[in-house]
Amino acid sequence: SKGNHAHFMRKEIFEQPLVVAQTLQSYVRAFEGEVAIPTADFDLSQVDRVTMVACGTSFYAGMVGKYWIERFARVPVDIDVASEFRYRDPVLEKGGLALFISQSGETADTLAALRHAREQGQRIAVVVNVPTSSMAREADLLLPTRAGPEIGVASTKAFTCQLAVLAALAVNLARARGRISADEEREIVAHLAEAPEAMARAIDHDEDIKAMAHLVAPARDVLYLGRGPDYPMALEGALKLKEISYIHAEGYAAGEMKHGPIALIDDAVPVIVLAPSGPLFDKTVSNMQEVRARGGRVILISDAEGIAAAGDGCVATIEMPAVHELIAPLVYAVPVQLLAYHVAVLKGTDVDQPRNLAKSVTVE
Ligand code: M6R
Repeated sequence: SKGNHAHFMRKEIFEQPLVVAQTLQSYVRAFEGEVAIPTADFDLSQVDRVTMVACGTSFYAGMVGKYWIERFARVPVDIDVASEFRYRDPVLEKGGLALFISQSGETADTLAALRHAREQGQRIAVVVNVPTSSMAREADLLLPTRAGPEIGVASTKAFTCQLAVLAALAVNLARARGRISADEEREIVAHLAEAPEAMARAIDHDEDIKAMAHLVAPARDVLYLGRGPDYPMALEGALKLKEISYIHAEGYAAGEMKHGPIALIDDAVPVIVLAPSGPLFDKTVSNMQEVRARGGRVILISDAEGIAAAGDGCVATIEMPAVHELIAPLVYAVPVQLLAYHVAVLKGTDVDQPRNLAKSVTVE
């Protein structure tokens, strides 16, 4: 049941602190300050390349995961959308690790890609939310998310739980490959453990975000900008908005704006900028200024420090708690979900069952 929420999507957004904590519990030994992926007959120290495949929101989780795995474990990651993977006949060395990410575990394109990878001698790891699904059954290494059943067609809690598992996997790989010390691991685990509380603080902004939905609802086009791991979060924000509000939205790497999309900017195009403080902040802000100089109406999502530095002149700001850059994607998922939700409610669409979409896409 939806409890006291108007839609399943809202309920599922609000459940995230709980289900992310639940998911992390299976992968993190908080007391020891260690991650613990159930690897069975897998030797993670032998993994020197990862091939990731997924669709939609799960693909964006994978893009964040690529960033983490390369950064912490220094293992190269290839990532494809499932519908492209098989047909480009990817070069897969025997014994490589192929990782499939899926809420449902039934997405036809992803399942076909998994079978293709197996035929090519890959070992199959699966991040999946439905433990009885086809992908779960066909995995050599099963990495379940513990989001519980997700009813809203727009994926929210399954996505952030996928991020939690991918972060743990990245750290585990880093340790197995001798890339991080026990102290560094303890520090990363401590940051991960802060994610649920930080997400709860992001959810506290529900009413503020509702109050700014009217800035986006009349738009025909919306842009989302981010850098580094917040670039896939920009893609995810745009997908959420498209799916449930039917407004055309695009996510861009902030630095790509000047290579074309900036031509779209005028005062009718809201631009949502995801920019947590950190090493990439100044660069993202200078891209944001380029947008503002062309009349673009910016909604800045940042922390108090970022908003103090760059919030002036934005049409609205959404203040996130200050968090370590590792967990920023988990936290910044919340405001983009809530913004899409409130815009859709304002437009009166069918939030949980948007037109033309199905919860699990079982045709290729
Ligand atoms: O069940 P899966 O994670 O494999 O589904 C993949 C996509 O179909 C899914 O993420 C879709 O993009 C969602 N509707 C996003 O909200």
